[in-house]
Amino acid sequence: MADSPAQFRGQARLPRFAAPLRYDLRLRPDLAACTFSGAAAVAVAVSAPTRFLVLNAAELDVDRASIRFQDLVPTDVTQFEEDEILVIGFDRELTIGEGVLAMDFTGTLNDQMRGFYRSKYVCNGESRNMAVTQFEAADARRCFPCWDEPAFKAKFKLTLEVPSDLIALSNMPVVKETVSGPIKTVYYEESPLMSTYLVAIVVGLFDYIESSTSEGTKVRVYTQVGKTNQGTFALDVGVKSLDLYKDYFATPYPLPKLDMIAIPDFAAGAMENYGLVTYRETALLYDELQSSASNKQQVAITVAHELAHQWFGNLVTMEWWTHLWLNEGFASWVSYLAVDSLFPEWNNWTQFLDETTSGLRLDALAESHPIEVEINHASEIDAIFDSISYDKGASVIRMLQSYLGAERFQKALASYIKKYAYSNAKTEDLWAVLEEESGEPVKDLMTTWTKQQGYPVIYAKLNGQYLELEQAQFLSDGSSGTGMWIVPITSCCGSYDAQKKFLLKEKTDKMHIKEFTASQSSDGDKNIWIKLNIDQTGFYRVKYDDELAAGLVNAIKAKKLSLMDKIGIVEDSYALSVARKQTLTSLLRLLNAYHDESDYTVLSHVTSVCLSISKISVDATPDLNNDIKKLLINLLLPAAIKLGWDRKDGESHLDVMLRSLLLIGLVRLGHNETINEGVRRFHIFFEDRKTSLLPPDTRKAAYLAVMRTVSMSNRSGYDALLKIYRETAEPQEKSRVLGSLSSSPDKDIVLEALNFMFTDEVRNQDSYYILGGISLEGRDVAWTWLKTNWDHVLKTWNSSSLISDFINSIVSPV
Ligand code: BES
Ligand code: ZN
Repeated sequence: MADSPAQFRGQARLPRFAAPLRYDLRLRPDLAACTFSGAAAVAVAVSAPTRFLVLNAAELDVDRASIRFQDLVPTDVTQFEEDEILVIGFDRELTIGEGVLAMDFTGTLNDQMRGFYRSKYVCNGESRNMAVTQFEAADARRCFPCWDEPAFKAKFKLTLEVPSDLIALSNMPVVKETVSGPIKTVYYEESPLMSTYLVAIVVGLFDYIESSTSEGTKVRVYTQVGKTNQGTFALDVGVKSLDLYKDYFATPYPLPKLDMIAIPDFAAGAMENYGLVTYRETALLYDELQSSASNKQQVAITVAHELAHQWFGNLVTMEWWTHLWLNEGFASWVSYLAVDSLFPEWNNWTQFLDETTSGLRLDALAESHPIEVEINHASEIDAIFDSISYDKGASVIRMLQSYLGAERFQKALASYIKKYAYSNAKTEDLWAVLEEESGEPVKDLMTTWTKQQGYPVIYAKLNGQYLELEQAQFLSDGSSGTGMWIVPITSCCGSYDAQKKFLLKEKTDKMHIKEFTASQSSDGDKNIWIKLNIDQTGFYRVKYDDELAAGLVNAIKAKKLSLMDKIGIVEDSYALSVARKQTLTSLLRLLNAYHDESDYTVLSHVTSVCLSISKISVDATPDLNNDIKKLLINLLLPAAIKLGWDRKDGESHLDVMLRSLLLIGLVRLGHNETINEGVRRFHIFFEDRKTSLLPPDTRKAAYLAVMRTVSMSNRSGYDALLKIYRETAEPQEKSRVLGSLSSSPDKDIVLEALNFMFTDEVRNQDSYYILGGISLEGRDVAWTWLKTNWDHVLKTWNSSSLISDFINSIVSPV
């Protein structure tokens, strides 16, 4: 065993005695046969005595006879499929130093949206294949044998042999092209040091538009032939983001070019491949006439997120997947910074609380996990691309930034990027740099947030002149965990002028009110209010005693509070009700304080809380469900009536978003007038797709309204939606229809919509839209459907993170 290839099985990571320096890779995809062949020559540094080379390979046919290390022929070659490794044994120890490992191999262009895969598109009425890669997290090994871990950085020199009429893109610019009949050979520049998961290839027919940054970096957006006008918005955001990050990180964009491209079959939203960022179409393309305001925001955020990775992730890479959150949490956080500076009127930092909210909701489950997770097998990585890595990750970064101050924080980040450029870093490495630059106990503070799952609720109680605080781990089932955190507490009293900040390190603490009261409030004591966690920068909840809670309700009514604080109060109150720490009645009473709110960011949280309450009440208080719905409808109606269905000249981006949000909310709550108006407008739209009565922003509300009226015996609305789906070429429009189909109250229609997912009319990447729309009435039938079809679902979606949507949408916690 000690000297056999099997000694390398069952290990979390590859042995370190040999590491790649440079890959020379030649690949030849056959788009008709959906196969590829390749040849790799890898310069390897052997640093310790070994007679083996161990690297990753999966679903590849390696030609054993072709393997050489320098002039050595291996004596045994074993591929362990389960471990996804290739063990190459020689009859004697390898010389310490550098040598070249060469081999040939073949594989299939699969349909799984990972590794080297095939995507389908239509060009000039003809159906075609394109070849695309998606390597994150651990699928480069499905395209070529490699040391497929983020810490094995190497240089890559690619050569592609492709049909002469196609465009072939990779991370680096083309240096040379030679054509020989129907095949051309494209040679690319050698890349700087980079991780395998960021290597990318796209081969197909495209058009592009081009622009450049202030430093002269060429930026292109590639789209389907004839659709470049849909790429201009992303191109503009892309160029501006690169300029912004160059300043923010005080480091130039590391590569000579950046391409961004829309792929018709794509498992995630987008992927930050170095110099060749791939997107699903809905996340890159924006069409003035066909896209909604929320589509526009999504494109901006996605582009800003992926381009942030070019520094945070690509230039400086996590040392191991345990530190994935460094990549994703940071890119998410900094994308808000970029978009906020490009579109200040979107009030993007307030919208950031959507991320904090999802993080807090998931992390209140006993089944959550710490931000830093142990990863023992490649198959475990997919599961951590979740709200903890992204949303909690981004939120604790915001918390730290707010504690340290924006300027100090940025300076430290820039040093971190410089220090670890072209290399790898762990979570501790970031804390060390921040600690050194700020002199604050960053490591101790942050470790309580990243190595421990969950978060605290702070109980706040007024006792005479003292504010007493106590922390306990918050869990949404009402139990309390044993966690303890170092909590950056912020608070203010009666006004935002005087704020008190300190670290709560023990279970309890108290402070004299005088400490954070501005000059005594002129309203006298009776209108006094105390708000903790100012602007929700901290990743925790607050439970106020009755007196403090009443003061906050008054402050909301008197319009004294910031948008972020209003959001925090309603979210915390909802979560505390779910956990049975306060009554439903007190939550409903609080909601009432929002009745003349007119801001999108606040109302989006109020609406989501309303919909959740209504959903819970179906099971928890069935007799009261109708009354509760009426109450919630009355809460949302005034703002909705003010906005109406039609867009007004000069209206703000956020009001456009608000209209769509409220109409959808009212339809979901069963408000008859809204449903009837939606149906009326839908009929006009169905006859005349160019009508101004149903632009993209209100279309989803109308589609949902129609589906509320559909049943097996009255199915014309469903069929009309299918017709729209079949006739449109726009992916965003298709997603709006798919997101409506399963929302009928009739179980058989829900079933029909779910089964529609299995037809070849729906791309596998789009299944989750249908899952996201399932009506409350359809939950049971969907659950039975999932159990019946589980084998098929597993076979088709298991290889991507899309599989989790089947569980999340059907068996979701509230
Ligand atoms: N690195 C991810 C893409 C990814 C996700 C790869 C899951 C492998 C598994 C990318 O940077 C990303 O985070 N994409 C987001 C975009 C969003 C946060 C704007 C996505 O795909 O949803
Ligand atoms: Zn990302």
